[in-house]
Amino acid sequence: MTDQYAIFGNPVGHSKSPIIHAAFARQTGQDICYKAILAPLDGFNDAVHAFVAAGGRGANVTVPFKQEACALVTRLTPRAELAGAANTLLFEGNEVIGDNTDGVGLLRDITLNLRYPIKGKRVLLLGAGGASRGVVGPLLEEGLKSLTIANRTVSKAKVISEHFAHLGPVTACGYDELAGRSFDIVINATSASLYASMPLLPDGIFAPGSLAYEMMYGQGDGPFRIFAKNQGASLISEGLGMLVEQAAESFFIWRGVRPEGFPVMALLQKA
Ligand code: ATR
Repeated sequence: MTDQYAIFGNPVGHSKSPIIHAAFARQTGQDICYKAILAPLDGFNDAVHAFVAAGGRGANVTVPFKQEACALVTRLTPRAELAGAANTLLFEGNEVIGDNTDGVGLLRDITLNLRYPIKGKRVLLLGAGGASRGVVGPLLEEGLKSLTIANRTVSKAKVISEHFAHLGPVTACGYDELAGRSFDIVINATSASLYASMPLLPDGIFAPGSLAYEMMYGQGDGPFRIFAKNQGASLISEGLGMLVEQAAESFFIWRGVRPEGFPVMALLQKA
């Protein structure tokens, strides 16, 4: 039987992961089947266990289950444990191993694909959910000048900044407190993009030469990217590279083969 993989989310209809993993499988000659599964908001656990019982070998986890996924595993990799969020599950016998490839995917895309240096930069991260948690550790390990986490619910940003404080200069605030400050890299990790919305941000947050990065790929000309363009960001990424790179890392975890990201990015751009 073909090895079964899936992405669990809610919503999940927007997900490009089935197309990406099918392309990786063709590229590397691996025989896998990968589908999207809409899990009920209160039924993530049951949905995953049903998939495992039916022979599932691995899974990706997206909004809003990345933190819940940590409660379901028997073991977390150190990077998933630090993030407190898992986007990749590997089912091995009775074990469910949780990993997090978001940080690696984001960093590979910014530094290798976009060739934008991160070291010494002032970075603003919007949002304090599972998507943010996955990238804070890897970002700080790059040696930033500062990392500011801004969120609508400030207490959630504070919890994350305290959790990661030992790794580097990280602080938390609300969106209104960003007035009068500017940043070299602004990353949108809120799920507002999935609903064609964005946080209310003050003018002037994009420093000259800055990079605006949308982590939720596939939202057309989303409001965050329009805002970044109007506010003078120099480089604007729709997050396609991160999507493909985090998927490549998941594929590597499951199959032991690392696919090439670029041809798959080109395929998605054409589609
Ligand atoms: P994910 O796992 O994808 O990060 P999540 O844990 O549900 O999903 O987190 C969603 C994030 O998007 C949160 O930071 C949320 O802000 P709150 O913590 O204040 O809820 C943010 N978010 C979602 N919709 C938003 C909106 N319309 N405006 C601003 N922030 C929003």
